Amino acid sequence: MKNLFISATLMALSFSSVSASAAAKGDPATGEELAKTRMCAGCHGLNGVSPMPVYPHLVGQHEAYLIKALTDFREKRRTDPTMNAMAGNLTDDDIAHLAAYFSSQTR
Ligand code: HEC
Repeated sequence: MKNLFISATLMALSFSSVSASAAAKGDPATGEELAKTRMCAGCHGLNGVSPMPVYPHLVGQHEAYLIKALTDFREKRRTDPTMNAMAGNLTDDDIAHLAAYFSSQTR
């Protein structure tokens, strides 16, 4: 009985980690942390309202567009020295979280 419980728990755990890694659903709260720790906020503003004309606003931008832009910068399909460096070490999950966060912000 105990073994059955353990194997059911392991199965549940492995299912949840599979869905987490396939995960495209970003978590805005995690995205907010990343925006601070990865310094995005320094140029794009914490809520995506950029303080400087040379940095684009991200506030309320479509989530799918943010995912595409960040993935393109990471893969260097879109080139900009700053953003290629900033996106270079983001995982797919990081990108999903950041996109969920900035797309959910309002001015
Ligand atoms: C040093 C300043 C700086 C930092 C830090 C920075 N960015 Fe950027 N970001 C830029 C600039 C400049 C551009 C415009 C690049 C271009 O001309 O293609 C840009 C463009 C973008 C775009 C595309 C916007 C659009 O409208 O196409 C996204 C999305 C983005 N940044 C997200 C981020 C995220 C997420 C982070 C943190 C991981 C980050 N940026 C960190 C300066 C910065």
